Amino acid sequence: MSRIFIIASLLFFGYLFNSCNSSNENKETITIGFSQSIDNDLWRKSMDHAMEVETSLHPNAKLIIYNADRKVKKQIQDVEKMIQQNMDVIIIAPYESDSIVPVIEKANRKGIPVIIVDRKVNTLNYTAFLGADNVEVGKLAGKQIVSLSKGKGTVVEIRGEIVTYPGIERSKGLQQILSKYPGIQKVSIDADDFNSPKSKFVRLLDSLPSIDYVFGFNDLIAYNAWKIAKEKRPNNKIKFIGVDGLNGTNGGVEFVKEGVLTGTILYPTGGAEAIKLALKIKNKEIVPKINKLNTTLIDTLNAEIMSSQFDKISLQQSDIENQQHFIKEQLQKYSSQSNLLKALIVLSLVIFLFAIHSIYSRIIISRKKKELEITNAKIISQRNEIEKFADEIKRSNEVRLNFFTGLSHEFKTPLTLIMSSTESLMEEEKVRDSKLIDEMKLIYKNSNRLLRLINQLLDFRKVEEQKFTLQASKTNIYDFTNAVMINFKAEAARRNIDFQLSCKNQNLELFIDRNLMDKVYFNLLSNAFKFTPDNGKINISIVENQDNTVKISFKDSGIGIPDNELSNVFQPFFKASNNSKNSSGIGLHLSKEFVLLHHGIIDLKSKQGSEFVITLLKGNNHLAKDEIVENIENKNIAQNIITDHLELESEVENFNLAADSEKHSILIIEDNSDLVAFLQAKLTKEYTVYISDGSDAIEKAIEIIPDIIICDINLVDKDGYEISKALKKALRSSHIPIIILTAQSSKEAVLKGLQSGVDQYLTKPFSLSILKQSLSSLLFNREKLRYYYTNNIYRVEPESRFGNPEQSFITKMNEIIQSNVENPKFSVEDLADKMSVSRVQLYRKVKAIMGINISDHINNIKLEKAAELLKLNEMNISEIAYSLGFSSPNYFSTAFKNKFGVSPKEYKTSL
Ligand code: FRU
Repeated sequence: MSRIFIIASLLFFGYLFNSCNSSNENKETITIGFSQSIDNDLWRKSMDHAMEVETSLHPNAKLIIYNADRKVKKQIQDVEKMIQQNMDVIIIAPYESDSIVPVIEKANRKGIPVIIVDRKVNTLNYTAFLGADNVEVGKLAGKQIVSLSKGKGTVVEIRGEIVTYPGIERSKGLQQILSKYPGIQKVSIDADDFNSPKSKFVRLLDSLPSIDYVFGFNDLIAYNAWKIAKEKRPNNKIKFIGVDGLNGTNGGVEFVKEGVLTGTILYPTGGAEAIKLALKIKNKEIVPKINKLNTTLIDTLNAEIMSSQFDKISLQQSDIENQQHFIKEQLQKYSSQSNLLKALIVLSLVIFLFAIHSIYSRIIISRKKKELEITNAKIISQRNEIEKFADEIKRSNEVRLNFFTGLSHEFKTPLTLIMSSTESLMEEEKVRDSKLIDEMKLIYKNSNRLLRLINQLLDFRKVEEQKFTLQASKTNIYDFTNAVMINFKAEAARRNIDFQLSCKNQNLELFIDRNLMDKVYFNLLSNAFKFTPDNGKINISIVENQDNTVKISFKDSGIGIPDNELSNVFQPFFKASNNSKNSSGIGLHLSKEFVLLHHGIIDLKSKQGSEFVITLLKGNNHLAKDEIVENIENKNIAQNIITDHLELESEVENFNLAADSEKHSILIIEDNSDLVAFLQAKLTKEYTVYISDGSDAIEKAIEIIPDIIICDINLVDKDGYEISKALKKALRSSHIPIIILTAQSSKEAVLKGLQSGVDQYLTKPFSLSILKQSLSSLLFNREKLRYYYTNNIYRVEPESRFGNPEQSFITKMNEIIQSNVENPKFSVEDLADKMSVSRVQLYRKVKAIMGINISDHINNIKLEKAAELLKLNEMNISEIAYSLGFSSPNYFSTAFKNKFGVSPKEYKTSL
């Protein structure tokens, strides 16, 4: 736009200037060049002046005068110049009649009009001639002499310095008159330096006493002759006659008036006429070739009149000149003012145009701004919608994922039960020796496989949520590798696969998270076995490098992976195009994530078969403090690697813990190793058994939070009563049922035991079946209690029959939750704070007492509250959802339906 504006402005100004200047340009300037032959001469100056005055009367005419200073060559050069400058008209006052001819003809040829003034030239190739008739001049002088002398006397004719046409013609005219009078004698001489004694006239004065008349060919010659005659012959009566008749000081008219000259023949310069003629010619007017100027005699009779006439003319001329001058000044003023005005107009217009432009720009900008604002608003609303949509998708994904995760957890328990039942069945002699054993093994193997797959699923979710924290411990990598390999040895043998480990340094230790690295190994080896044909080869090699790294490679002789797919194998859900087997596609992805957690690298080479190479750093400098776990002994590697890595930082993990510990855990506090070994052997099948010799019983119990404790009385450090008391007092452990197993059977001892809060008192020797029954009864009761707490949680009263620490704990907790049920920001952390326990303690405690998650418990209370609110019928469903801190009514409806089996809407209408 601005470009168009600038162009339009320029065009406009151009037009404006053109229109301003057009009035001047309509009149074309006419340049007249004038070649003057003589300077320093009154008559010539008068001629120049007359030309200048006349020119000034014509505003479009311009006169340039060149003066040749009596030099013929210079005059030719001057005319040449004028031709070159392409003058409109050239006026020449020739000095000499022949040499100037070629240049006159040249101008003529070039089409430049040439006006010859005063002296004639020997060519006719000019445009016009202007001058007086010199024969006439001579005649007028002759007539004057004749009239004065009455036909007698001596006349001296003094011609000019050089012979020119005027001289010749004046002499001729004089002769024509005098020749008629024989009494008149004429002597002709040329003018020279009258002051010199050698001057012809001086000598004539001396030699010719009877001179009566002197005719000077101009007034100056006549005056000089008069002066010298007066000097030489003071009383002479000679009458002097001149030519030119100029007015003013040293002019012929004044000489006549003063009596110096008897007469002067007016010889007009023709300056003004020459300019007029030039303009006529330029204006293509037809003019005569020969333009004659009038001449007349000025003598004592008319000198005064002539003089006053000339004065008047001069006065008028000077008036004209003054006026011209004034006009010129006015014109200049006018021109400068008009230029100023133009400049001001232009400036105003510029300002005006810029103002228009700026208004226009502002309109455009504000329009654009509005458009942008609209677009912006659209984008924002679209973005909000997308965000909302994304949130909803995320939430629905979350719900789905949580559902699958929950389901996966649910799978674990029955699977574990299947596996443990199968395991114990396989140990039964009847089965072991029958044909059923093979099928049992198949069941066990596939259950195990299923369990691994489920664990992978849960790990995938955990990786996605970045909930893994590395728990690396110093591990003998050779032993570790061997321990994992044992799991595959049987398959290798069955399929005749050459399954080898090569490792030069069997003492090499690396910091690895055994649980995670076990999964990586398992994945890579499962893969290798899956794709390696029978009689093939699978090789693990551990190589130390110079650069403080160790490479563990898993090479197989399987089908390999196509080259162009190599970069994708670690992507989740990847399945190679040449893989026809069933595959979840997350095993390798998890392996990579786990290796990355170790700050290591996993690569795949696939030329013949596949080769996965894990590169790990030696030492633990690359690990953060919280990524290192101390004191896990290498000798327990085999046990460690089959125990799931437990961490209580997240609810998912907590869930894991609950599911994994489907087998109840028992802590046996006993210092008799035989009894410990016995109990362990008898209970391991059904329980996860932990042992303490009593020295660290309380710490261990609080660390493990077992489901039940069997405790001896006579221990080294503290006795069983003290331990029981302490555990029943501690918030974290108060819910754990304790069975005292002691040899002390006295009434007091039993009473003391019961007083210390224990749940059962068994005396040695005890019946194993009674012990087992006691364990399961107490655990069953605990379950019942859990069930009660979970389902009557809102109705638990401090006065109720469960007068124990759990009851008051739950009562207090429920009160806090109830009072914050409508606070959407209320979190588990806030609750833990208010209960003066850590978040993890709170989690464990609630899980132990109620068997559910604390957040589920809070949700339950909220949903119960929601049901109450729905009954009250004071708020609509959305208001209830938001008031209870649910992120959306949809989510609330889903949760409500999950709990009560009906949606809030259905619930409301059913009331
Ligand atoms: C001036 C002059 C005049 C004379 C004319 C003739 O130079 O001598 O006095 O009349 O030239 O060309």
